[in-house]
Amino acid sequence: MEKKLRSSDWFGKSDKMGFVHRSWLRNQGYPDDYFQGKPVIGICNTWSELTPCNGHLRDFAEIVKRGVVEAGGFPLEFPVTSLGETLMRPTTMLFRNLASMDVEETIRANPLDGVVLLTGCDKTTPSTIMGACSVDLPTIVVPGGPMLNGRFRGECIGSGSFNWLIKEKQSIEQYTEDDIHEVEIGVARSQGHCMTMGTASTMACMSEALGLTLPGAAAIPAVDARKKLMAQLSGRRIVDMVKEDLRISTILTKQAFENAIIVNAAVGGSTNFVIHLLAIAGRLGISLDLQEFDQIGSRIPLLVNLKPSGKYLMEDFYYAGGLPVVIHQLKDHLHNNTMTVNGRTIGENNNSPVCYNTDVIAPIAQPLQDRAGIAVLKGNLCEDGAIIKPSAATAKLMKHTGRAVVFETMEDYHHRIDDPALDIDENCVIVLKGVGPVGYPGMPEVGNVDLPDKLLKRGIRDMVRISDGRMSGTAAGTVILHVSPESSIGGVLALVKDGDMIELDVEKRKLQLIVSETELEKRRKEWTAPAPVAGRGYVKFYIDHVQQAHLGADLDVLRGGSGSTVTRDLH
Ligand code: FES
Repeated sequence: MEKKLRSSDWFGKSDKMGFVHRSWLRNQGYPDDYFQGKPVIGICNTWSELTPCNGHLRDFAEIVKRGVVEAGGFPLEFPVTSLGETLMRPTTMLFRNLASMDVEETIRANPLDGVVLLTGCDKTTPSTIMGACSVDLPTIVVPGGPMLNGRFRGECIGSGSFNWLIKEKQSIEQYTEDDIHEVEIGVARSQGHCMTMGTASTMACMSEALGLTLPGAAAIPAVDARKKLMAQLSGRRIVDMVKEDLRISTILTKQAFENAIIVNAAVGGSTNFVIHLLAIAGRLGISLDLQEFDQIGSRIPLLVNLKPSGKYLMEDFYYAGGLPVVIHQLKDHLHNNTMTVNGRTIGENNNSPVCYNTDVIAPIAQPLQDRAGIAVLKGNLCEDGAIIKPSAATAKLMKHTGRAVVFETMEDYHHRIDDPALDIDENCVIVLKGVGPVGYPGMPEVGNVDLPDKLLKRGIRDMVRISDGRMSGTAAGTVILHVSPESSIGGVLALVKDGDMIELDVEKRKLQLIVSETELEKRRKEWTAPAPVAGRGYVKFYIDHVQQAHLGADLDVLRGGSGSTVTRDLH
């Protein structure tokens, strides 16, 4: 017997409320049969002109609708909070959880049987998936796709990654305003999200590795006709997923999360992957520990040669065969029988892809690096953990002891970093406080702070940097991130002073402040917490409830889910 549609609780009623639910929708001209047992598919759209990476998703929604109608469904598109990395202040991460609440509550409150998530820019993927998990309907992700490769004077340049070089280019290579203007246009020359293996591309690969997209969806450029095809096929498929009752919780098993960690290591994905995957797992009640990212991921070889760790960009990755090639190569590491949205396993979906460019996707027998992934550090400076991406770091700095140069806030850093009198050299360790979830608030992507001008001019390109913030997936360097507990709630990071020695040993997974416990206890007693950054509104709610980085920085009240049932009607 076919399962009763959730939407029939709205449209299938013959009473007053059934009339109300149907009648107002009739103003769009829908015929009778739309209310008589067609699966209702919500198209959750993160389109916004304030999110340039998702600017094409309004058109994509129409293409998804085409597929839904073809398969016998009733598509209803709805807007949700969209988060654009390049415009929002102080950081989109402050609003990821808010956006997820919008998605969750909108799905649950409405007569939807299944959902298509249209995603693109960094946070629009985890926020929508987190919200969808807390409701648990059949759900499919359509990643909006990367921009075409950036171009500048005959060279390929990566969006995001170039930003981090601007200070260096102006200071060392004497780039003029005209040069920068030319880059500005050439680096963003089509619709889509950043085309490096930054966070948006990482999130698209994560979605595919988790089994939430149709196979091969992640790498297709936004402007390639095959992306539209993927959107239409996803529209068709979600209708069948509703009939099969293939819910997101069926797909997102513990094994699927482990697969995502393995794939993320092989593609050289963003450090932000960690915080978002932890938050998604938390919504499903799946136990996933920060340590598992290291245990599972760091034995995986790096296969994908994309910026910021490597040389190429997402367009090249797609032409080389995309994620199916990577998944196939990892088959001896993966749980190949995890279910995906098309009703087949990840192993079945990716059993015979062809690699067209082994310089972009290396064979597993000759990887770019033998061990990739994210290293999780422990020590008195980060009792609940901190992370570093070894593939983006400088090998000789992976074991390093240096003198701390401390900046109490981001403003303090900006004020003093280029002061010629600043006592700093390339062996120092830059420590940045006050950029964690509570402290900033929202844990911005500032961990990869620029080096002092005077050291750049001497040709220094990397130094050890430590903070309780995040780093853009498009950035690189020996940057230790997500220090937990953060400084603003009294983590040991708060107690570091100029001149303290800090020992980093990535091989031993160690990050240690070389200061005696007696001295730390003395400093602890003298430490006073900074004043709260907000006294009202969402930001107050956020700082009162946000969890630390090692738990995914979700709000404590949002962990888990409430299912799709709404017991009370609107009368
Ligand atoms: Fe949107 Fe990079 S700014 S993906």
